Amino acid sequence: MGVSSRQKIEVSAGHPYPVFLGANLEDLGDYMLSRFGNIEQALIITQPVVAKHYADRVRQGFKGCRVDLVTVSAGEGEKSLARLSALVGEAVRLGADRLTLVVALGGGVIGDLAGFFAGVFMRGIRFVQVPTTLLAMVDSSIGGKVAVNHPAGKNLLGAFYPPLAVWTDFSTLASLPWQEVQNGLAETVKHAVLGDPDLFAFLEEHLSKILERDPLILRELTARSLAVKVRLVSQDEREQGVRALLNLGHSFGHALETATEYEGISHGRGVSVGLVAASRLAEERGLIAGADVQRIMNLLSGLGLPISVRGLEAGRLVQLMAADKKNRFGRKVLILPRGIGQAVQVEDCSDEDLRRAWAGVIDSNFPIS
Ligand SMILES: NC(=O)c1ccc[n+]([C@@H]2O[C@H](COP(=O)([O-])OP(=O)(O)OC[C@H]3O[C@@H](n4cnc5c(N)ncnc54)[C@H](O)[C@@H]3O)[C@@H](O)[C@H]2O)c1
Repeated sequence: MGVSSRQKIEVSAGHPYPVFLGANLEDLGDYMLSRFGNIEQALIITQPVVAKHYADRVRQGFKGCRVDLVTVSAGEGEKSLARLSALVGEAVRLGADRLTLVVALGGGVIGDLAGFFAGVFMRGIRFVQVPTTLLAMVDSSIGGKVAVNHPAGKNLLGAFYPPLAVWTDFSTLASLPWQEVQNGLAETVKHAVLGDPDLFAFLEEHLSKILERDPLILRELTARSLAVKVRLVSQDEREQGVRALLNLGHSFGHALETATEYEGISHGRGVSVGLVAASRLAEERGLIAGADVQRIMNLLSGLGLPISVRGLEAGRLVQLMAADKKNRFGRKVLILPRGIGQAVQVEDCSDEDLRRAWAGVIDSNFPIS
């Protein structure tokens, strides 16, 4: 498959929608207008750097339709109620109404924020996900979860609000800084560990090409990685069962993000360390062989992702995990790998188990600041 040939995968959930891979930004408008009609305004919500590179390409396709652009600053801090409220004011000023289509052009922050905005503005208007980070392509644009953060917790205010479509143009990856590519690679390793051992082997085999950002290899790993998510959300749209497996590494990762106030450690890097902590815990329980844990750590570090953190205290991180949305009646709900290619949910981890798992990924050679 060439880098720019278009491919379509269906998310067959309660609200089915197509995921287009290898689509062109310029063709989005034509597709949306001819497929859905009745769209009087396209409201592109994006960030300055993404707008600079890609907004005009998106604009081109919406012929005969009003197009407006709203930019929000980059950063997890923008996924807030304050920003949501400001977006509402801006949308009203630009004449948005029920015939407006929101175009979420950006990474996971924009997808979550613009998607949540679309879900609540006038009780819900239509939106399309146009992911421009690897993380958004393989993960956040798929599955219909949208949210903003709250001081009491990440993604605490959110909804299941599926897009009309996901429109992935791989050419947008060309401008993406390497650290952001790595964040998406962390989710890709996670998908491989929880559901696709062949993808794991593919990542190991093509490590040097990934580091060179070979477009064909990036396309292939993106398609395979998002297929794992599509499979699970198609079986369980509302996260009542198997979809929860996608949280592998996330309970640990979210605690790291919160501990560093979303600025010190990115989502992908939190997931990377979280994967290692979960794998260590799984090894202790006989769910995964030590050699496989080593393979996971080798792959993550080969991709330049962290497998440990410094300057944080295990007890504090355990406390932060108590606020995880997945917990049930005080019991910590965790996803652990079962070998490479499967994962299981466990609910019987004690705080002491978690403290040991954290201790295994805290680099104690560095004093706590
Ligand atoms: N809804 C879900 O199911 C889900 C799943 C996973 C993660 N998330 C959320 O996703 C967010 C993280 O997303 P992310 O990693 O994409 O980060 P991000 O959206 O913050 O984007 C990272 C940076 O890359 C820049 N950028 C985006 N596209 C670019 C491009 N093509 N070229 C140059 N720069 C570009 C952005 O401006 C930003 O500075 C977190 O808020 C996380 O909670 C949501």
